[in-house]
Amino acid sequence: MCLRFGPQSQCAPTTGRALVRRCHIWYVGCPETGPDKTHTMSKTVIALAADHAGFPLKEIMAEEVRALGYEALDLGTHDTASVDYPDFGHAAAEAVLDGRAEKAVICCGTGLGISMAANKYPGIRAALCHDATTARLSREHNDANILALGARVTGTEVARDAVRAFLATPFGGARHAPRVAKIDQIRTREAV
Ligand code: RB5
Repeated sequence: MCLRFGPQSQCAPTTGRALVRRCHIWYVGCPETGPDKTHTMSKTVIALAADHAGFPLKEIMAEEVRALGYEALDLGTHDTASVDYPDFGHAAAEAVLDGRAEKAVICCGTGLGISMAANKYPGIRAALCHDATTARLSREHNDANILALGARVTGTEVARDAVRAFLATPFGGARHAPRVAKIDQIRTREAV
């Protein structure tokens, strides 16, 4: 029995196995031997991060993400006290790159500064979206792994639609794949 990795409420009583989280995947099984083949469960983790201006929208997005069946990994900030948006853009990018989250939703006043910070990391494609259409296309064409929203410019209901579209849309692949690969190329300029 491998019950020590989860509180009692997380144990599966009929099997005596534990609900264990490894990386961003939840499964029933033993942390030493891996998932039970017949009881594999997974809950995708979505990271959320915001500065003080984005904080109220982040709270709403976390609620939406949970309602859609994802686990929300809240990286802060946790109130409206003034903070620096790059710190939270970096935190979200790192959570996606190190596998703690599959995707992230980030918010600042405009969505601009926090997405600029997140996009400093190769492999991160943070898309500043203003509605469900841009969110959907950021997944379909650009394989965006972070949705950036501006709390001072995008209404709550529009933001809810955007996060739903973002999480529901797969990458289109095909002609888009080589273009996305080019985004991730590091470019350097010759000194003139
Ligand atoms: C904070 O006042 C504001 O500058 C920030 O939230 C964001 O809009 C920056 O891009």
